[in-house]
Amino acid sequence: MIKQAIIPLAGLGTRMLPLTSIFPKELLPIHGKPNLEYILEECIDAGVRQFIFIISNKKKSIKKYFFNDKLYLQIIKKKKDLRITKEFKKLKKYRNRIKFVYQNQPKGTGDAILKCKKYIKGKYFLVLLPDDLIIKKNCTKEMIKLHNKMNCSVIATKSVKKKDVSRWGILSLKNKNKNYFKITDVIEKPKTKEAPSNYAIIGRYILPKLILRKIKELKPGQGNEIHITDAIKSLIKEKEPFYGNIFKGKYLDCGTLNGYINSGIKISREKK
Ligand code: G1P
Repeated sequence: MIKQAIIPLAGLGTRMLPLTSIFPKELLPIHGKPNLEYILEECIDAGVRQFIFIISNKKKSIKKYFFNDKLYLQIIKKKKDLRITKEFKKLKKYRNRIKFVYQNQPKGTGDAILKCKKYIKGKYFLVLLPDDLIIKKNCTKEMIKLHNKMNCSVIATKSVKKKDVSRWGILSLKNKNKNYFKITDVIEKPKTKEAPSNYAIIGRYILPKLILRKIKELKPGQGNEIHITDAIKSLIKEKEPFYGNIFKGKYLDCGTLNGYINSGIKISREKK
């Protein structure tokens, strides 16, 4: 059973400047709710019991968002507002499930995951990148189902336009059916000509605990960062099985300013 989810939140958010100069992008509201809460809801609905948030000293406001009791208690006492009471209860429920880990230097997703080592309990754990929202159908649930069927690691994937492949980690594959395929290799942000397919990694992973050992051995890759993609690549080389889950939900890219604006519009339309 997969019960733990790691959420890397220490990134600088440069693609979203100037908003992120003072505000963590994961708390920016989409249809009145921080993008991070959509991720938490998806996980809880899929049976996740514990979250490990990787934050940094610059992004302590993420912790504060969940631990602002004084403010809430004062306001609730004064106003007796049901909506605020409900929101406060929800935050308290979330925070009981969160552990915080710090990554003060932006050394990449691989390095971030390594920082969670002491909290990782099971043989497999989830990683969700909050830039990537998937709505309408619970992607984490689909992935856990595939993991249970195949008893192996799973990566969320969707086909993207050939001209856009250099924005993503791209998968090599075999034995594809409508819903999933076996992954035979991965390459981080390839040039169009070098891309082995147009199936991109979207930010949801079910990874084996043994990946920690691989990450430790890695030298920094693209952008001088340690990428999980590179650790996955070397595990696949050693015949560790990975499957790509072609998710059914609708993908919203919240990691760029344009993407964030469009995601807000699309979610608002869905909720009408
Ligand atoms: C990261 C991963 C990449 C993946 C992408 C999904 O890239 O390194 O493999 O395709 O997330 O959003 P980033 O968005 O951090 O540049």
